[in-house]
Amino acid sequence: MDIISSELNAPSVFREKAVLSPDYLPKRLLHREDKIRELTTAFKEVINDPGNTSVRAVIWGRTGTGKTATVKLFGRSFKEVVNKKGIKVEYVHINCHRQRTLYLLTLEVANTLKLPIPVRGLSSQEVFKVIHDYLDRRNIYVIVALDEFDYFVNTSPQEDVYFLVRLYDELSAAVKRISYIFIARDLSYINSLDKSVKDHILRNIIEFKPYSSSELYDILRDRVTEAFQENAVMDETIRYIADVNGFDKGGSGNARLSIETLELAGEIADRERSPIVTVEHAKLANSKLNQEASIILDEIGDLELHNLLLIKAVMNLTKRYKDDEFPMGRVEEEYQQVCRDLGEEPRRHTQVYEYVRRLRLMGVLNTRQSGKGLRGRTTLISLAFPVTQDLEDYVNKQIRVRINTREE
Ligand SMILES: Nc1ncnc2c1ncn2[C@@H]1O[C@H](COP(=O)(O)OP(=O)(O)OP(=O)(O)O)[C@@H](O)[C@H]1O
Ligand SMILES: [Mg+2]
Repeated sequence: MDIISSELNAPSVFREKAVLSPDYLPKRLLHREDKIRELTTAFKEVINDPGNTSVRAVIWGRTGTGKTATVKLFGRSFKEVVNKKGIKVEYVHINCHRQRTLYLLTLEVANTLKLPIPVRGLSSQEVFKVIHDYLDRRNIYVIVALDEFDYFVNTSPQEDVYFLVRLYDELSAAVKRISYIFIARDLSYINSLDKSVKDHILRNIIEFKPYSSSELYDILRDRVTEAFQENAVMDETIRYIADVNGFDKGGSGNARLSIETLELAGEIADRERSPIVTVEHAKLANSKLNQEASIILDEIGDLELHNLLLIKAVMNLTKRYKDDEFPMGRVEEEYQQVCRDLGEEPRRHTQVYEYVRRLRLMGVLNTRQSGKGLRGRTTLISLAFPVTQDLEDYVNKQIRVRINTREE
């Protein structure tokens, strides 16, 4: 009893920990002001000439660069400002990884607009028509943000991607009510689409660069004020985390990872009953978050070139699709592509399979048999660890070293 109550009453460096959770949307996003400005310029037409065009913007950049947060903040604020001008605008944020098909995605749009859709019998196209008629009747314009859009492009049938993107070629509507913001980690998937579709997407291209250490410092500082007790976090602590992660200092420029490190540092301080979060706490947090990766680095360091190329292939897929398991065939295709890019002759199937077995034994890859699908059983492959920028850089470096030092 005593233990429990003393633990519950223990002082904490945190004031409002929820502010550090990944879902928390801060009131302002430092160093993204110009991006909000660019988005506003792109969407000005919705106010100046409502219904005349369906505006399109693409946001792209690495993980943790604030794409989701910035677009959400823009959407909410834009809606508010424009509604005051007497134009009805709604904002819908769709995560394509969660809403995996055109149909689910369409239902989610309807859902957010609080528009009931008959449960069965309608195709996605028909649901879109229902949504559009509803918007017409109420004279509403909608900005639909399609987050993790690369995922949708990769996993959906081409005609679904085309329908969604070329909406107004397919849907006859006098007034164009739906505009899009596409969010992606990189543009290669969009670039691989047909020109006629691509042209509908690549209109206003906005790049999110990884954060520098001084930018991360400001972002962390801002979060600290809200999340922690006054003076609980030392300035050096913030500076340390910003330096480790700053893109200009060799880090990944990832704000999510930086905030996670800050939170873990706070938890460590609490555990030690320390009223302040020191650099030591931050170092511990940082190494904890990188620990898994460093164990893996040791193992990977000794591998032969084609094992590394195979790891790189699985890493590429994992990053691109934000999924974690891939059929053997898909992995092999990517492996062959990786080889081609580096001018390497790919190994044959049986040999690649042997690599997979070996990497599984080493604990680098996980494999399992899929259930019986259309094409029978297949081996599904996943990485046994999360892909970090450091890890990727390391693997690339090892590959380069092996190619350069090879005896011809
Ligand atoms: N400029 C900023 N100011 C304050 N917080 C930020 C800023 N940029 C990012 N963040 C925070 O960092 C975290 C990651 O941001 P976000 O989710 O928007 O990244 P993302 O680019 O969408 O990443 P992913 O590609 O992985 O989806 C969030 O918690 C977000 O609130
Ligand atoms: Mg995101």
